[in-house]
Amino acid sequence: MILVTGGAGFIGSNFILDWFAQHGEPLVNLDKLTYAGNVRSLASLAGDERHLFVRGDIGDAGAVRALLTEHRPRAIVNFAAETHVDRSIHGPAAFIETNVVGTFSLLECVRDWWSELPPGERQAFRFLHVSTDEVYGSLGPDDPAFSETTPFAPNSPYAASKASSDHVVRAYHHTYGLPTLTTNCSNNYGPRQFPEKLIPLMIVNALGGKPLPVYGDGRNVRDWLYVGDHCSAIRAVLERGRPGETYNVGGSAEMANIDVVHTLCDLVNAARPGLACERLITYVTDRPGHDRRYAIDASRIRREIGWTPSETFESGMRRTVDWYMTNGEWLRSVETAEYRRWVDLHYDASR
Ligand code: NAD
Ligand code: DAU
Repeated sequence: MILVTGGAGFIGSNFILDWFAQHGEPLVNLDKLTYAGNVRSLASLAGDERHLFVRGDIGDAGAVRALLTEHRPRAIVNFAAETHVDRSIHGPAAFIETNVVGTFSLLECVRDWWSELPPGERQAFRFLHVSTDEVYGSLGPDDPAFSETTPFAPNSPYAASKASSDHVVRAYHHTYGLPTLTTNCSNNYGPRQFPEKLIPLMIVNALGGKPLPVYGDGRNVRDWLYVGDHCSAIRAVLERGRPGETYNVGGSAEMANIDVVHTLCDLVNAARPGLACERLITYVTDRPGHDRRYAIDASRIRREIGWTPSETFESGMRRTVDWYMTNGEWLRSVETAEYRRWVDLHYDASR
């Protein structure tokens, strides 16, 4: 079996659902259920004995040790993290706590347990750390895309916390020989993403006739990847990645934010004629330290692992908008009082 952390979040829940669609192999899902975790995302697995959900913190060494000893996972996929850049600007402490201290604590427990395994199991074991392209900083308009050798230059507290965890993971391979793998992926979108991030926020606001808040001049560029393609990349790296290596993951779909919002508006308008979403676009104060452009060079994972994405930006966006339009119950479950407080705090301040 494998151990997944943060499996009630956006990418983790998609990974688990896809895993069971492809595998019979059981999986333990350790998740703290922060505001971003949602057990409803895994409701279709109710009664499925292959999935064991455990509520807990990656930084709780006692709980992690007990899980390792009881279940003896052949691999760990670490999704657990605080992930929203804007929240990291309002309150960085939780990012350091989970992404840096929590990942370190998890690695310590794993190293202890792994070092006592019989040689065959020790060699076959993998620790896959899911990271981000934000560790590389920001690109100018004509700079080449981020490769695995681009120096780290994280700009937000979120990016700095992920870069720190990537360094600790690297050191555990280099110093202790722990068979680690790291993936650095670009912006994901798709079903079950918490509506604080650009794409689901815009869909939800458009459907509700609320303003679509675009930061700055709307020309910041992100390189978008459908979440199912990120999940297939993680499965491929887990199977065929070389321990100690890092792999950039991306879909070569660079888009300016304002163009993403127009694409969304076209899809929502087609489904709900009369909404005329463009009238809702509102330019608001820019994010402090806002990275201008991200772009991923995914040639290593293509060449060495044989992974390529399946969805285009157009097909992935169509699936995403359809999903949000047909999953009102899920949406209502995440639009909590905490969510409304966040929206009031953040967007009132940026008007
Ligand atoms: P998310 O915020 O949707 O989910 C994070 C999950 O982790 C939640 O279920 C939360 O409850 C859980 N969690 C938080 N702190 C925890 C802790 N201390 N112990 C256990 N569980 C905890 O995040 P996501 O977008 O699914 O991102 C998952 C991973 O992928 C993160 O490591 C993120 O840095 C990385 N990543 C995300 C993107 C993206 O575009 N979303 C792109 C590249 C990499
Ligand atoms: O690049 C990978 C990263 O992508 C992940 O590591 C992060 O976890 C994930 O949150 C994401 O970070 P971004 O900051 O790029 O994503 P976000 O959806 O917050 O914003 C995307 C772009 O849209 C960014 O340029 C800021 C802009 N934006 C965002 C929001 C929420 C707006 O213009 N308006 C908004 O209201």
